[in-house]
Amino acid sequence: MPRVISLINLKGGVGKTTLTVALGEFFSLWHGLKVLIIDTDPQTNATVALMSEKEWKRRNVKGQTLLGIFKDEVDKYQVFSPQEAIVKKVSNIGGGIDNLHLLPSSLDLIEFQEEFLYRRHDYEHVFRPSLLKERLEEVLHCYDLVLIDCPPDLGFITRNALYMSDYYLIPVIPDILSTYGIPQIINRVEKLKKKTGIGLEPLGIVVSKFRVQSNVHKSQLRLLRAQAGQGGYRRVFDTVIPENNQSAAVMDFNHSFAGLEDKYGYKRPYEEYKALAEEVLAYV
Ligand SMILES: Nc1ncnc2c1ncn2[C@@H]1O[C@H](COP(=O)(O)OP(=O)(O)OP(=O)(O)O)[C@@H](O)[C@H]1O
Ligand SMILES: [Mg+2]
Repeated sequence: MPRVISLINLKGGVGKTTLTVALGEFFSLWHGLKVLIIDTDPQTNATVALMSEKEWKRRNVKGQTLLGIFKDEVDKYQVFSPQEAIVKKVSNIGGGIDNLHLLPSSLDLIEFQEEFLYRRHDYEHVFRPSLLKERLEEVLHCYDLVLIDCPPDLGFITRNALYMSDYYLIPVIPDILSTYGIPQIINRVEKLKKKTGIGLEPLGIVVSKFRVQSNVHKSQLRLLRAQAGQGGYRRVFDTVIPENNQSAAVMDFNHSFAGLEDKYGYKRPYEEYKALAEEVLAYV
């Protein structure tokens, strides 16, 4: 069975999606692993970075996105099929990477959540945290690694992601506001573990959007490293992802790239993503 890693943070915009996509591409292309990316964020950022909008729309109409899993549960009728929903050969590198697959998210999840979620008396059962795992179980053996890009909250979708994960990774911008919520994340994950009995482990913190010139960033990074022992997040990865223009520019699916170096700038952030992928693999 694959090792499953969720990328989570309560704070938005810390680089979860950018890291998920880059790690997926390095694991599949550089390390030759079979990788599934699951986009659980209704913002669909990983989805639009990895596949064409036209193809996404076609699948969305047929109920073949992440939303299908939750919708089926409400409708009590199974439309979603993991074989149909998972998009093979995704990414804007080389016309798609053979062993990189994607379960796309759906923008309609936002409306769906508003309409159904808080009105149902059987909410706890319908949106049980094991649902995502139950519906994907039959295809998981096809993969070496699964990366789950989570929304910036610990709501029912993230709980579903965590339930099927072996590890969780916390991307963090090393400033006061972004690091403030870390204990809360760890406490909430511990509560979920106790409630469900799952064996989820912290993989560590990845520092992203690091500003070399910033004294705040430097001191927060030192603090995070010093507190790794008692902080409950196990470690801060040696590799730090610097703030750079390339990371943002390459998320457009309409730009195509010849390879990892072409996409990630030969030196920066290419070297950092490559080093981080190697570091992560050493611990999972
Ligand atoms: N290393 C980086 N340097 C500069 N910009 C970056 C870097 N990583 C990500 N970005 C940009 O920062 C913004 C937020 O990044 P991203 O979408 O990956 O964060 P996120 O944590 O997934 O956000 P959300 O919580 O909204 O899902 C995006 O515009 C992205 O292109
Ligand atoms: Mg995101």
